[in-house]
Amino acid sequence: MTDLDDPARFGGADPSGFLESVERLPGQVREAWRLGREAFLPPAGKVGAVLVCGMGGSGIAGDVCRAILAPTSPAPILTLKSYDLPAWVGRDTLVFAVSYSGTTEETLAAFDAAAARGARLVAVTTGGALLTRAQAGGHPSIVIPGGLQPRAALAYLALPVLVACARLGLGPRLAGEVAETLQVLEARVARCERGVPAAKNPAKTLALRLRGLPVVVAGGDGLGSVAAYRWKCQLNEVAKVPAFSSAFPELGHNEVVGWEDPGGVTGDFALVVLRHAGEPPRLAGQIEAALGIVGPAFAVAEQVSAKGGSPLARLFDLVSLGDFTTTYLALATGVDPTPVATIDRLKRAT
Ligand code: PA5
Repeated sequence: MTDLDDPARFGGADPSGFLESVERLPGQVREAWRLGREAFLPPAGKVGAVLVCGMGGSGIAGDVCRAILAPTSPAPILTLKSYDLPAWVGRDTLVFAVSYSGTTEETLAAFDAAAARGARLVAVTTGGALLTRAQAGGHPSIVIPGGLQPRAALAYLALPVLVACARLGLGPRLAGEVAETLQVLEARVARCERGVPAAKNPAKTLALRLRGLPVVVAGGDGLGSVAAYRWKCQLNEVAKVPAFSSAFPELGHNEVVGWEDPGGVTGDFALVVLRHAGEPPRLAGQIEAALGIVGPAFAVAEQVSAKGGSPLARLFDLVSLGDFTTTYLALATGVDPTPVATIDRLKRAT
């Protein structure tokens, strides 16, 4: 267990420097934006649909892109987190194969299948077999910096896909949004970095409230639900706690009944609800009402709100707050935030 107000001791608890990668997210956004703008892309042309393939810490790049692009894109934006391509993927599908290591078997299988169907392919990776196959097949690849955990490389994985889509006419030009995202993230880091004591640091405060509890994270559809899923994955992989994510408005039609809790189980869970100013009024009303009805059943029920005006800034602000919170939760409970031994074991076993 590490005292969160004694950052001099973080080095021993976090030997690989995971917290440093969290504090450096603004710099990563800046560099990822450059990589996306400079990337060589397939020729512009009709795009019937966009499919972003990837797993885990890489696959969430597709969810981020869908949340940002879907409200305005003329083509559907879909994700694939498995081996097999849907039947509709063909020559007019723009397929991004995203794998930080470049060795993930599901993503490689999807890449091979998309290449066989003549899809317009782009690989996003640090190297591995994915890069080798992209180069051998003459497909564009966006090579991102290595040396991080995939879940600490979200901007490198997601922004080049977003920028590529924008360059191919599928999304807004992002210069203003990226500039605002940088401002919002720099402010977030200033509020949550290691030197800010728990009494003034919202991420440390929340981490201390969540200690010892499995967590349900919920967000409003689109942006909020992707952020909730990211928090859930970071709670699992960084803090090594059971966590679940859910999305309004759908959860108001089923999950809330489970939260009523006649058997007292909900009282052993924490609830974190991720809010943002872009929630449609009806959705915001439903979230408030649900919290009023079932919030008291939880051991801890917290709401956190994104800063920022653009969807990109809001999403990255929630991501950053979640990354800080889960890293401090790991440190507060004596867990090394970096290794994911069970994922490694599972990959070796299959
Ligand atoms: O966070 C992790 O380490 C995992 O979720 C990986 O991202 C996942 O297993 C896929 O690997 P990669 O990101 O290298 O494609």
